[in-house]
Amino acid sequence: NWKMSSYAEEAIAAIREKVGDRKVLCALSGGVDSSVAAVLVHRAIGENLTCMFVDHGLLRKDEADLVMQTFAEGFHMNVVKIDASERFLNRLEGVADPERKRKIIGEEFIRVFEEEAKTLGQFDFLAQGTLYTDIIESGTATAATIKSHHNVGGLPEEFDFELLEPLNSLFKDEVRALGEELGITREIVWRQPFPGPGLAIRIIGEVTKEKLEILREADYVLRDEIKKSNLEKEIWQYFTVLPGLRSVGVMGDERTYSYTIGIRAVTSKDGMTADWARIPYDVLERISNRIVNEVPDVNRIVYDITSKPPATIEWE
Ligand code: XMP
Repeated sequence: NWKMSSYAEEAIAAIREKVGDRKVLCALSGGVDSSVAAVLVHRAIGENLTCMFVDHGLLRKDEADLVMQTFAEGFHMNVVKIDASERFLNRLEGVADPERKRKIIGEEFIRVFEEEAKTLGQFDFLAQGTLYTDIIESGTATAATIKSHHNVGGLPEEFDFELLEPLNSLFKDEVRALGEELGITREIVWRQPFPGPGLAIRIIGEVTKEKLEILREADYVLRDEIKKSNLEKEIWQYFTVLPGLRSVGVMGDERTYSYTIGIRAVTSKDGMTADWARIPYDVLERISNRIVNEVPDVNRIVYDITSKPPATIEWE
């Protein structure tokens, strides 16, 4: 892609010019935008970039490993992984309201970021994967926000980072093309959107370790089957939800009383509206069989067939 290779060269030169030999910090989530921004900045300034990856314990199975393998091992970048799962789980204890969950997770994220950044040294810039569309949507390009859409409010005043937003003239498809140009794996570049609050908003009601474990395993099976069926690119977002309801089932000659898992899969252009994805019945059958067989304490699978509107994509 000639357009993207010249864009990459120019962007790298511009970052070098702007940053010089100063230090840059980046909050790496493993999502497409922050990944492409981080690799681009790394190409420009190498060791002077430090990335912080906060594991809030609400990630999908193997996600933290994938991020570390891709960026720390693959690209030899400085990536500091912060395991903050206990902190987040503690703060979420007893919290059932979706908006309160979001608020708590957003606030805790800022706190962790702030505390850990101090221990990592002095930084002059904060790199973010803000896209052109993010600027239009929020109406301001200047506020020092850790870009994670609607879940994170902003950085504390005492941080006077200068912002580095190398993707702020690009659209999503251009960012993906740039990511491929920079040699980032398709697995990362073509990732489905994943909300900042993660699995917490896919468990209805209180988030517990036990429920997280069940949901994570069920979600893993779903993703695995979608991948094997080559449906990844056709479906905008696909995931499982744990409504927290138990129902009666039978296994062998035993009566069970276990959780229901909901499958949510939608097609969409931008997430604003969506239709439920017509996953072929045989694929659904494999997903259902595998989840019930492989995930303990689950005995029933349902498929969400509502569009947005009136439903939302997430259940919370
Ligand atoms: P809804 O559920 O509102 O979702 O139809 C639309 C898109 O936004 C994502 N989403 C979020 N992303 N923080 C995020 O970063 C959030 O709190 C949040 N809530 C929803 C959702 O995954 C979908 O892509």
